[in-house]
Amino acid sequence: MCGIVGAVAERNITAILLEGLKRLEYRGYDSAGVAVFTNNGTLERMRRNGKVAELEQALAGEPLAGRLGIAHTRWATHGAPCERNAHPHFSGSDLAVVHNGIIENHEALREQLKGLGYVFTSDTDTEVIAHLLNHKLKDNSDLTAALKATVKELHGAYGLAVISAKQPDRLVAARSGSPLVIGLGLGENFLASDQLALRQVTDRFMYLEEGDIAEIHRDSVQIWDVNGQSVQREAVQYSDGAEAADKGEYRHYMLKEIHEQPAVVQRTLENRLGQDHVLVQAFGPQAKELFAKVRNVQIVACGTSYHAGMVARYWLESLAGIPCQVEVASEFRYRKVVVQPDTLFVSISQSGETADTLAALRNAKELGFLGSLAICNVGISSLVRESDLTLLTQAGREIGVASTKAFTTQLVGLLLLTLSLGQVRGTLEAGVEAQLVEELRRLPARLGEALAMDSIVEKVAELFADKHHTLFLGRGAQFPVAMEGALKLKEISYIHAEAYPAGELKHGPLALVDNDMPVVTVAPNNELLEKLKSNLQEVRARGGELIVFADEQAGMTNGEGTHVINMPHIHDVLAPILYTIPLQLLSYYVAVLKGTDVDQPRNLAKSVTVE
Ligand code: F6R
Repeated sequence: MCGIVGAVAERNITAILLEGLKRLEYRGYDSAGVAVFTNNGTLERMRRNGKVAELEQALAGEPLAGRLGIAHTRWATHGAPCERNAHPHFSGSDLAVVHNGIIENHEALREQLKGLGYVFTSDTDTEVIAHLLNHKLKDNSDLTAALKATVKELHGAYGLAVISAKQPDRLVAARSGSPLVIGLGLGENFLASDQLALRQVTDRFMYLEEGDIAEIHRDSVQIWDVNGQSVQREAVQYSDGAEAADKGEYRHYMLKEIHEQPAVVQRTLENRLGQDHVLVQAFGPQAKELFAKVRNVQIVACGTSYHAGMVARYWLESLAGIPCQVEVASEFRYRKVVVQPDTLFVSISQSGETADTLAALRNAKELGFLGSLAICNVGISSLVRESDLTLLTQAGREIGVASTKAFTTQLVGLLLLTLSLGQVRGTLEAGVEAQLVEELRRLPARLGEALAMDSIVEKVAELFADKHHTLFLGRGAQFPVAMEGALKLKEISYIHAEAYPAGELKHGPLALVDNDMPVVTVAPNNELLEKLKSNLQEVRARGGELIVFADEQAGMTNGEGTHVINMPHIHDVLAPILYTIPLQLLSYYVAVLKGTDVDQPRNLAKSVTVE
């Protein structure tokens, strides 16, 4: 997704902007650019299609030095990825704009502005903002006042940063639907779409709220809220060791993050488990009262987070006896939904800024849900701010685009939710809760044992190097785990992968099976094992090659065309968390063999803040 960095200082800010862009690279982008009010008194820009390194190289050849500037990484939505469409966008030679988000009425505005004589040089919705702002400056030469007038005409989502050669003492910003944070320095101030971009220059931040407009000078910041009232936003000191954007001993962030799972699961459990029960107040002071009224749960999320929700459905219904529906946010938000009485709305998101999930939450508020709970990894995110209750996963910053540790910590959070609901509503026996609490305490060690299989899985990955299609099978709560395994493989190795509940195989997908189609299966030792074994026979009978991650007590053995990888035994309820690990490792090693860009796979972005 797009990223914004801005700076107003007494020193040259170009290197700060570039470093900020590099720190945002993990979000995914296809072009980058910078605009600087130079020491010669002119507004200049440099843009490049491709990586920030190419922009940096271009700037090394033709340096831009100045004390005021904005920069951007673009993930194409309107117009192809190319230099012409890269931000910053200019209107005339004095005004530069960078923008995250989507302006929905850009076509109408474009026609209107063309009629006024503005000439467009890109296909982007952002250029519309630059020209509209220029037009507003004709009525009011103050940049902030003109921006206030401009945003009134914009429909859609935006995080905006603007500079003008005519008012070079300030950086002006606006937020609606796309996050922005001000970094506070000493005699210098900064702006970014994510504080990570500014951790090199400050650890004090001020988060803009929906509808805020900010005027940022070297030594002062002024903010107006959605009603145009001057407001103060709290300055927050940020310290988070887990945030270190550093691969350490690992070749890729993804591998590092896979190996962090025992530690982050441990952190997610901290302060949330009593002797033999879950501490319900971990969900917030009003949780107990609210949970007591819950008769249904509606889960909404996207991608990997949606798969976590699907696992939770098995848990909520089988352990807490609570009916649960799970839906992808992009569908839920546009569907006419019938809400059962006393339904808790649960959103799951790593970033807490996913546009579809956020929109679903906002819609849900109109639909008569009992209350809302966010299971999220970012405490300062919009999703958290706008939900009644929150459970923060403690995964730390996830840099690899493919989600790994966020998923397993979400699963832990969802199991805590299940146990809490069962406890408060009296639908879960105390003994069962106590046993699962004990199993949760042991989980980090179990995950460590699964990670110790790293080199075994690396070897198995060789079976996939020349394959183009794969099937993933699971039954019960392992079906969503299979879905997550398939998503990981397609995301980073670009191998087509589909997941099916194993019992569904004979209803269609079996037609695909031949000796060129590896079939990956997760097989814990539970009541569905024998049924699963029969499904695997169906595959073998058609020449399909089986890769089975099986409980060491499942009695499955290697044979011709059957590769069994033994997994440590685990309580069946926690099996989805454990069995996720080898599937993450498998997709990672297949991608490494295929030589893809593991941490920044093509066409994908880390935080999907547009529709
Ligand atoms: C897959 C992946 C995506 C995200 C999805 C939702 O590896 O990362 O599918 O899970 O875009 O993102 P969040 O969880 O931030 O709402």
